Amino acid sequence: LLILIVMMFNFSHKAYRPCWLDEKPFNASGPFALSADLVAKYGGVAPKMAEEAHLQVIDEVVQRALDEAKLTETDLSAVAVTIGPGLSLCLRVGVQKARKIAGRFCLPIVGIHHMEAHALVARLVDKNLQFPFLALLVSDVLGPGGHNLLILASDLGHYVQLGTTIDDAIGEAYDKIARWLGLDMRRAGPALEELAREGNDESIKFRVPMKQHKDCNFSYAGLKTQPFVQLMCLQIGFSDPDVPISSASCQDRTIRADIAASFQRVAVMHLEERCERAIEWALQIEPSIKSLVVSGGVASNQYLRIRLNQIVEQNGLRLVCPPPRLCTDNGVMIAWTGIEHFTRGRYDPPPLGDEPDDAL
Ligand code: KG4
Ligand code: ZN
Repeated sequence: LLILIVMMFNFSHKAYRPCWLDEKPFNASGPFALSADLVAKYGGVAPKMAEEAHLQVIDEVVQRALDEAKLTETDLSAVAVTIGPGLSLCLRVGVQKARKIAGRFCLPIVGIHHMEAHALVARLVDKNLQFPFLALLVSDVLGPGGHNLLILASDLGHYVQLGTTIDDAIGEAYDKIARWLGLDMRRAGPALEELAREGNDESIKFRVPMKQHKDCNFSYAGLKTQPFVQLMCLQIGFSDPDVPISSASCQDRTIRADIAASFQRVAVMHLEERCERAIEWALQIEPSIKSLVVSGGVASNQYLRIRLNQIVEQNGLRLVCPPPRLCTDNGVMIAWTGIEHFTRGRYDPPPLGDEPDDAL
């Protein structure tokens, strides 16, 4: 599922065991292949189609999650569900399902902010990660309030936004460029990262965005189009309009790898600059900060991890980066954030009665 919307957890009585930590992620088959195939086929997400896909698989996904955790609904203590940001049609499918289960089994319900879950899942993998910490969240388009964020997490539910994107998110730039480079859209970001490994990252001079803005905001719209212009130039022989370079040059893997590598270097350089400034700002507000969490789908990128680790170490902090399967969207992060809130008494009472299908 593009937006993993619902996740339940069992907690209370028995000693709590995060059973999912040692388990394999779901295979990219069945319901999960469905969404990836739709994205690959149509090059993006059409809201109505995405809603249909969610409706088709929601019951099976929840049942599989329960089966693989060897639980039934009666073992659960509460239901956590994503309430935003995201496509409202899809979010609604998850919320309806969550309310149905919670209503039927008289369980409290915990509404979760998707980006908070990206940040807090780091506390599941690193039990030494205490508040306050700094978090860089790097995802794709999610609607207002999502995608690229630099936040200072002072405590659970207390977040100061230091920076956000003023246009596109970094994931959007990766995905669009992957499309223009003709890569497999079922795994656009990772495919671009792989191609970049073969290229010379200094061969094309893309501009680092917002150099003159001394803040912690991001901008990827301009950088996203620079490789496109580069490709167009190759396609139409821009260097000499009378002698068009054949479009075969765009098929040349070396050129595409150079574009991918040069884009990636500058895209990550933009993050590095913003993180350096955010560390400086955050330490003035909360001098006890020791860690920078980097999470969200793009944080799976190895090049990004290596570069940011250097910045973080130079500034006397440590980098906490969840494993890739917990960086990209997943239900575990929703369940974990549910536990964080639930254990502090932050939840809604069970919905009254069984939810009708059109309850929301
Ligand atoms: O957080 P996420 O899974 O979904 C949203 O909440 O948006 O992020 C998805 C984004 C996509 O743009 C995807 O291409 C990108 O994360 N991504 C990567 C890598 N793996 C996933 N980008 C660059 N390198 C990767 N290895
Ligand atoms: Zn996400």
